[in-house]
Amino acid sequence: MDSLKDEISKLFFENRRTHGNFQYTVPSPTNYPFQWLWDSCFHAIILSHFDLEGAKKELLSLVSKQFESGMIPHIIYWEGENDLFRHINWGKKDTSTITQPPMIAFAAWEVYLKDKDKEFLRKIYPGLKKYYEYLLKDRDPRNHHLAGITNPDESGEDNSPRFDALLNLPPKQTEEENFERRLNLVDKNRGCDFEAGLCMKNFFWVKDVPFNSILAENLRSLADIALEIGEEKDADYFLEQTRAIKLAMRTLMLEDGIFYSTWGEDYKKIKVLTWAIFAPLFAGAATPDEAQNLVKKHLLNQGEFMARFCVPTVPMDGASFNPINLWRGPVWTGTNWFIYKGLRRYGFDDEAQKILNDTKALLEKSGFREHYNPLTGEGSGAKGFTWGGLVLDMMAE
Ligand code: GLC
Repeated sequence: MDSLKDEISKLFFENRRTHGNFQYTVPSPTNYPFQWLWDSCFHAIILSHFDLEGAKKELLSLVSKQFESGMIPHIIYWEGENDLFRHINWGKKDTSTITQPPMIAFAAWEVYLKDKDKEFLRKIYPGLKKYYEYLLKDRDPRNHHLAGITNPDESGEDNSPRFDALLNLPPKQTEEENFERRLNLVDKNRGCDFEAGLCMKNFFWVKDVPFNSILAENLRSLADIALEIGEEKDADYFLEQTRAIKLAMRTLMLEDGIFYSTWGEDYKKIKVLTWAIFAPLFAGAATPDEAQNLVKKHLLNQGEFMARFCVPTVPMDGASFNPINLWRGPVWTGTNWFIYKGLRRYGFDDEAQKILNDTKALLEKSGFREHYNPLTGEGSGAKGFTWGGLVLDMMAE
């Protein structure tokens, strides 16, 4: 444990950047040299195990670039270098103009639990409140209790096959083809002046299962935070929203025991299996029977998710499965962390242990990589990638 912790703190020290009073960690110095939203939430959770002050700074940096609307952008280009990054014209100079899975309240609460620093909570709370209110209102204009995303990148799973049909792409495709379609949506977003729920929803509007599971669970953390600093009314409101989202997930996404992402105003189900079917466990949105069924029928299924190295992001027998293409098959330590947490929540301790063991085995075999081949354990994508640090959090449970 100690040597793994040492390796992780070394990696985090190498990937640390400062900008004036702000501090953050880059997910990978070569491939991702900026600050990313859900990455930084993972970073804060990891840092909370060995550098609490660093963890707090990581989250406060995110909030500092919040938009007027309340949205927190998914990339911050602290040095204004966005021109260098794949030439994406987001319509703003120093940040992107889309968001990412809203993990920030959960991360803030995890950090707070370590040293009960109420000053930190008070400082970050107004920004958090504004962000989640934005998601609850602007991303759900009809008040149906599910938040919409306007680009696959907002799911954090850029080229996941969940979005293929909407992008008009076949199961076998190149990363470049997929990227091009997503860039089109960036153009549309500029045209919409970044207005999601009234304008962008005409071009891409998905109620994604992981995004909403994460939102529900984070609102629960936000309620904990609000209560801790004496904002009882807010706490009641956010808890009520957690319940409403979980109920809406059950009403609009669930079919034969599986939660599917939906698209469009009439909630058409996207019946493509990915690791996302396990995300509702993270939020406690499934019944114990449904959880049991998901684990038995899918997680432990050797044709689907029970790979030599768990958990592939797409089932091995899926039409789009490719063990080395980003979100179309490889194992990611971040998704493993969500699944691990969900399994523990429902008492599947042996299965959770298997995921932790596999995650450690991947780090040992191939180092800190962006993702890993579930069949061979070989690493692919960016090097010096930070998410592997989440094993520390899994081991601490
Ligand atoms: C890739 C991932 C995304 C992550 C980013 C930075 O784009 O798909 O989830 O936030 O890299 O690590």
